[in-house]
Amino acid sequence: MRNYDRYRKTTAEEYDKKTVMSYFCRVPSDRKIIPLLSEIKDKRILDVGLGTGCYSRILAKNNSVVGLDRNPHLCKLPIKVYKGDATELTRLVQGEKFDMVVSMWMTEYLDQEQLSGFFAESKKILNDTGRLMTTVISRYGFGYIYIAAAKLLRGIDKYNYGRKQIIRMLKDAGLAKIEIIALNSWLHIPWAYMVIAE
Ligand SMILES: C[S@@+](CC[C@H](N)C(=O)[O-])C[C@H]1O[C@@H](n2cnc3c(N)ncnc32)[C@H](O)[C@@H]1O
Repeated sequence: MRNYDRYRKTTAEEYDKKTVMSYFCRVPSDRKIIPLLSEIKDKRILDVGLGTGCYSRILAKNNSVVGLDRNPHLCKLPIKVYKGDATELTRLVQGEKFDMVVSMWMTEYLDQEQLSGFFAESKKILNDTGRLMTTVISRYGFGYIYIAAAKLLRGIDKYNYGRKQIIRMLKDAGLAKIEIIALNSWLHIPWAYMVIAE
């Protein structure tokens, strides 16, 4: 079973239930993520791995948003959602171009080859000045614990990456103007990064 397949039978209501990890990690991260997303205006955006669409809902207030997910049944927002994999964006969107590719809490499902593929595919579907904005789980602190716990307690393979590794993969994909912002958890313990590239 692939790691994302566990959402196949999950309902949107079940998915949105908060866990201890959400309070320790996602809630503090959202204090940085939500202001960043709220200032984006008048863009055509692809939200990859949008899940129930909690960030698409914010983006859709001032932008035109399309989603893409392996499990599109999770999204109840009235937006178009492509069903498919983050490593096959060009095939799925068939010539559509975007000002931004946004992907929150999805890259932890991608191994190194898939993550490189996702970066390369994002570059291909972005306009010349388009930007990729994605979260990546850190190798340290809660990032380390989260990945180890997924494997030990649930047998799920998830992936975390270091800053240098992320930068190298972005550059290999042809992306530049790279910005990496730390998304710390409760008590400022390392947890993840917000990665922005053009
Ligand atoms: C943890 S959820 C995050 C959902 C949403 N972005 C959020 O932050 O609430 C991860 C989502 O990514 C999707 N996903 C995982 N691997 C994927 C892949 N390779 N391609 C496309 N979607 C994927 C899952 O189906 C799920 O909806």
